[in-house]
Amino acid sequence: MGKTDKCTQIVKEDERVISPFTRVPYYPLVIKRGYGAMVEDTDGNQYIDLLSSASALNTGHSHEKVVEAIIEQVREFIHYTPAYMYHEPLVKLAKEIIKITPGDCAQKVAFGLSGSDANDGMIKLARAYTGRSKIISFIGAYHGSTYGALSLSAISLNMRKKIGPFVPEIYHIPYPDCYRCTFGKEEKSCNMECLKHLELAFNHYIPAEEVAAVIIEPIAGDIGLVVPPKKYVEKLYDLCKKNGILFVTDEVQQGFGRTGKWFGIENFEVVPDIVVMGKSIASGMPLSAIVARKEIMDSCDAPAHLFTMGGNPVSCKAALATIEIIKDQKLLEHTRQLGEYVKQRFNEMKTKYEIIGDVRGLGLSIGVDLIKDTQTKERAREAAAKICYRCWEKGVIITFFGNSVLRIQPPLVIKKEQMDKALNIIEESIQEYIKGNIPDEVLEVAKGW
Ligand SMILES: Cc1ncc(COP(=O)(O)O)c(C=O)c1O
Repeated sequence: MGKTDKCTQIVKEDERVISPFTRVPYYPLVIKRGYGAMVEDTDGNQYIDLLSSASALNTGHSHEKVVEAIIEQVREFIHYTPAYMYHEPLVKLAKEIIKITPGDCAQKVAFGLSGSDANDGMIKLARAYTGRSKIISFIGAYHGSTYGALSLSAISLNMRKKIGPFVPEIYHIPYPDCYRCTFGKEEKSCNMECLKHLELAFNHYIPAEEVAAVIIEPIAGDIGLVVPPKKYVEKLYDLCKKNGILFVTDEVQQGFGRTGKWFGIENFEVVPDIVVMGKSIASGMPLSAIVARKEIMDSCDAPAHLFTMGGNPVSCKAALATIEIIKDQKLLEHTRQLGEYVKQRFNEMKTKYEIIGDVRGLGLSIGVDLIKDTQTKERAREAAAKICYRCWEKGVIITFFGNSVLRIQPPLVIKKEQMDKALNIIEESIQEYIKGNIPDEVLEVAKGW
């Protein structure tokens, strides 16, 4: 890494004027520009991006087609709220989203600005459509930071302390985590205790007939990219159907090609009732969407869910370009193939370094879980922080979450050679950590979730 004087100066100024409650700090990287899977900082250092702005840039940085679409729309008009008037990009985009959303669930769309507001809208629709108030979510879930979305979330005490009360009637159950089973089971001894937990709840304190929806991330993202077993998702789905409960998939992080399918839930044999999307939908422009059958989308009275800036035409044009790019550049196939290769490389590392406890994921949504001990699987938080920091120093943007899990979510346009270079840097950094060559001081900076 070269000089970082300008970055350091800007970060100092940032700390003076920006509230810390909007950030999870990793290292002082100040972005100047981005192209494809590469990022440059204000001092001219270059990095391979394995984070994609938290999985919000699946088509890469400033894709030419996205930039052109944005400029074209900005020249026409920047915004006129769809809350009062109409515009064509909104309608065109809704039609395209309906085409790519799985099953017959996609008939109408409601646009917003962020994954969080879309999850709030989902709560409103689920309650209005079913006439029921209760929602089931998961421990470890992150659905956003507005009050509704945060009430669905259960990932961090710091996100909940001091700010309650939350939206009532939301219940959290254990996520099916086969590597660190809440019920202490192994694959052989597993009897779907996590699902039984929900059945138990239905029998004792949550009347199933009062539950409007179950919301699940098809891969639990921010808790450490935990992939649920297929049969769990299918049984959960059956349980919902049996009890008239809506099955909702939060695709904000896993959607738009991240897992090698348009939506993460397509990796499972179920057809959701409501799909919530955001992040990569518009390649970095603010946009979110809720998609469902007509009768669900028409169940709330107007204007229960409108945002002056929602469904912005510039964002809609960027989203139309995003869909075209994913199709034209065959990014779904590329993601599946490269994802398998990346997992194989990490699995090879796993045989060499005991610190790697688990490698998991679908497509280019891969988690590498670092542990202190192969028996106890105790999370190696310090190792994760130090390795991420050293990777940054060597030119790779990578973060960790879930206390110990390296987050591998590069832009889907990343080339194999770039990925190889990044993987080599990660391996070198792991070796340096094992040798004790990464100082403790970095922990002051790389705090993480
Ligand atoms: C699964 C999931 N849902 C919702 C959100 C919230 O999205 P946003 O930050 O755009 O409001 C996130 C953000 O990380 C997410 O990962």
